[in-house]
Amino acid sequence: PEPGWTTDADVVVIGSGIAGLTAALRLRGHVEKVLVVTKDRLSAGSTQWAQGGIAAALGPGDTPAEHELDTLVAGAGVCDAEAVRALVTEGPEAVRELIALGTRFDHDPDGELSLTREGGHHRDRIAHAGGDATGAEIQRALVAAVGAAPEIEVIKRALALDLLLDDDGAVAGVTLHVMGEGQRDGVGAVRCRAVVLASGGLGQVFSQTTNPPVSTGDGMALALRAGATLRDLEFVQFHPTVMYLGADSTGQQPLISEAVRGEGAFLVDFEGERFMQGVHELADLAPRDVVAKAIMRRMLDTGRPHMWLDARHLGAAFWERRFPTILATARSHGVDPVTALLPVAPACHYASGGVRTDLWGRSSVPGLYATGEAACSGVHGANRLASNSLLEGLVFSRRIATVLPGELRPWATARTGEEDPRATGLLSGTAREELQDTMTARVGVLRNAAGLAEAGERLGKLAELAVTGTALVDLASWEATNLLTVSTAMTRAAALREETRGSHWRDDHPERDDAAWAGHLDTRLVDGGL
Ligand code: SIN
Repeated sequence: PEPGWTTDADVVVIGSGIAGLTAALRLRGHVEKVLVVTKDRLSAGSTQWAQGGIAAALGPGDTPAEHELDTLVAGAGVCDAEAVRALVTEGPEAVRELIALGTRFDHDPDGELSLTREGGHHRDRIAHAGGDATGAEIQRALVAAVGAAPEIEVIKRALALDLLLDDDGAVAGVTLHVMGEGQRDGVGAVRCRAVVLASGGLGQVFSQTTNPPVSTGDGMALALRAGATLRDLEFVQFHPTVMYLGADSTGQQPLISEAVRGEGAFLVDFEGERFMQGVHELADLAPRDVVAKAIMRRMLDTGRPHMWLDARHLGAAFWERRFPTILATARSHGVDPVTALLPVAPACHYASGGVRTDLWGRSSVPGLYATGEAACSGVHGANRLASNSLLEGLVFSRRIATVLPGELRPWATARTGEEDPRATGLLSGTAREELQDTMTARVGVLRNAAGLAEAGERLGKLAELAVTGTALVDLASWEATNLLTVSTAMTRAAALREETRGSHWRDDHPERDDAAWAGHLDTRLVDGGL
């Protein structure tokens, strides 16, 4: 189908969290025109919601080497060592740059950067802002910087649909569906020489997630359709302590930051037993997968829908100063953590996998770069270390901006048509709930072959409901279609990996199997099939 409008930009950045805005800011002045497109408001993505903070070896006595070790241990044997090395060695400088940009991190009374601890870290190395509103402060500073850079154009409420490729299979443009932006309303195309995919994660695949509603895996689905290789899709991290609001509560759920445990809170079961003790040397601050599994085990053993977090001893004044957002949210749901236990259960939090990239953010499609949660640079392995995600977006977007200007391809003509999902079929937005139910029941925190096969079958049936043509050209349908694409790929990867490792937990293969599974699982679409 012909686009309704067209425009040009040397580089299109898709997404407007820490990864996208950092890429745009670092690219300006090095390429002629940078265009940021974002599906909603600039701050609607996951960065805005990050609580605990951003990890970097900034404290006295800490070193990148120690940060590296903690990252590798959490990643359970499938991190890319060189990518981790880049993350931890460039991290401190990248965070200092964020500070120079205007990000106001919290400081101790003596004026030093205040650093806390989270699961899997052996040192206090998490910088935070506004107590527990780190992402919001970083996002504020980045949005302000982009606002002050007139050379960066922004199109909001624009869903990136598909890449346009030239005859060599390299990026020549991207199609967008703009919803209500005046002259550029409707489906159109941007001719460009490179795309930086910074579109975030896919938490909305599941019924309960800490991710905002916009996290529907759009970028990963777009990359798959364009022929890019994705990696590690089975490694979806479930955050251990998400406030439990009842079985009927779906969509984005309130996160209770690991930093609350970092400051001394602990988990208990319905008998008041501190069940993390003895499970791991770091007890309540064990890596995230260990804590999530221990909570789930206790829930399954006792038939309870959640466990409890005890943070009463932190006291009202500390709660108000250190965790004002969480305090207000918990109280708004009728629980005062100063006087009562917080009900918590694991919920989907982070896609450790994504579009496979090299150390400089290059995907397998020439001209397509990926960064942040949409990417799989190899730093997270089977289980991301707490507070490494903001850092990954920051460090790898800087890296992309270092190489991309020198690699810009000439303007090229796009082959038309066949990447458009309208050609292969769109799923109605009404299918989203059934998809989420299936994924939650069968591809969630605990998996096995029978459940994964059933999920694959149900997703296949949903795919049969996709319709071609223009009847379903709306945001809900694009999102449902993308969710189906990434769910299908994730289910397949989870079925293939017959072992338990990091955040991938199979009750039919309960052991880690280094002989068979120490490597990665790559996913590509070939002739329409995975
Ligand atoms: C948290 O604050 O617990 C989340 C940190 C993270 O996801 O890295």
